[in-house]
Amino acid sequence: MQCKRLVLSGAAALLPFLLATAAQAQTPPVPAGRLLASNCFQCHGTNGKGPGFERIAGKSSLEVYKELKEMKAGGEGQGLMTKHALGYTDAQLRELSQWLSTQR
Ligand code: HEC
Repeated sequence: MQCKRLVLSGAAALLPFLLATAAQAQTPPVPAGRLLASNCFQCHGTNGKGPGFERIAGKSSLEVYKELKEMKAGGEGQGLMTKHALGYTDAQLRELSQWLSTQR
C-alpha cells in the first residue's frame, strides 16, 4: 500500500514535466534564416539589432545581400566580414538577408 502511494505520487510529480515537454514540442520551428544569421549576432547584436558593429537588421534584404556578396568576392585573406561571407552559399546569404530584413 505504502509502495503504491509512492509510485502514484512519483507519477504526479512527473506530470508537469511531461506537459512542459509536450508544450515545447509545439513551439514553432526557428526560421532557417535566423539560424543562419545567428552567427552574426555576436558582433552585430542579438537579431542584428546592435549594440555592436553596424546594425544589420531592418535594412532591405537586397542591400544586405549585395554587401555580403561584395565581401565574399574579396576572397580569402581579406577582412573579417569576407571570412564570414565565404562560409555561406549564395542561397544561404539570400535567406539570412531576407530574415534580417524582417527585423524592425
Ligand atoms: C567577428 C565579428 C563579426 C561577425 C561575426 C559578423 N560581422 Fe558583419 N561586420 C563586422 C565588422 C567589424 C564590420 C565593419 C567592417 C567591415 O566591413 O569589414 C561588419 C560589417 C557588416 C556589414 C556592412 C554594414 C554596413 O552598413 O556597411 C554587413 C551587411 C554585415 N557586417 C553583415 C554581417 C552578417 C550577415 C553576418 C553573419 C553572417 C556578420 N556580419 C557577422 C563584424 C562582424
